[in-house]
Amino acid sequence: MSDETIYGENLALMEQLRSDVAASLDELRRTMSAGMEFDPIEHCLSRIKAEDSMREKCRRQGLPETTHSALVEIQDAIGFRVVCAFRSDVYLVRDFLAELPGFEVVVEKDYIKNAKENGYRSYHMILRTVDGRRPVGCDADGGFFVEVQLRTISMDTWAALEHHMKYKKKAPANERLIVAELKRCADELASTDVSMQALRDLILEEQ
Ligand code: GTP
Ligand code: MG
Repeated sequence: MSDETIYGENLALMEQLRSDVAASLDELRRTMSAGMEFDPIEHCLSRIKAEDSMREKCRRQGLPETTHSALVEIQDAIGFRVVCAFRSDVYLVRDFLAELPGFEVVVEKDYIKNAKENGYRSYHMILRTVDGRRPVGCDADGGFFVEVQLRTISMDTWAALEHHMKYKKKAPANERLIVAELKRCADELASTDVSMQALRDLILEEQ
């Protein structure tokens, strides 16, 4: 059985939520920049997962294509990607989101300290509304989920290339070599991120 639009009556509320989180992040950027500090965010993207991608994800996970699957079983219908220049900024934004009024943190995965085997690095958080906003038309036991991926520019560049490679229709003949090289690039980028962080700390110390 499939609903006409998988999000049912919830889309307007989801857009509102997305805009609230975006506004909170903008506010963080404004207050930090105004306080003679620095803007911790390079750029920030957000989206509501498109209908066809959500249905495809349900099928992939063996779930029925329902509002319940999309908003209760699956936790990334609303997604943010926050890209920062430096690692310390990633953790600064993480701390900000962990304290965001109206939300609780339900899952955190630090793929920066514990990179995935393929070299993927990012800090992942799943937030959930605790302000009374809940999905309707399904058996929700809590609020709306919001997935946030936090990464540095280098991590983001790497993930974009790796994503491109993963979703190519045909696996290349030299796939093993490419996977190994990608992993090597991820590790090199990570070590450059550490050096850049040290440089930045030195520069800030001088001020
Ligand atoms: P999903 O079912 O995809 O949500 O995965 P999960 O529940 O195991 O969560 P995880 O935190 O591992 O991944 C969530 C999201 O992070 C993915 O949908 C991707 O957007 C991103 N991601 C995770 N691993 C990788 C990776 O190896 N490469 C890239 N490019 N992105 C990744
Ligand atoms: Mg996901």
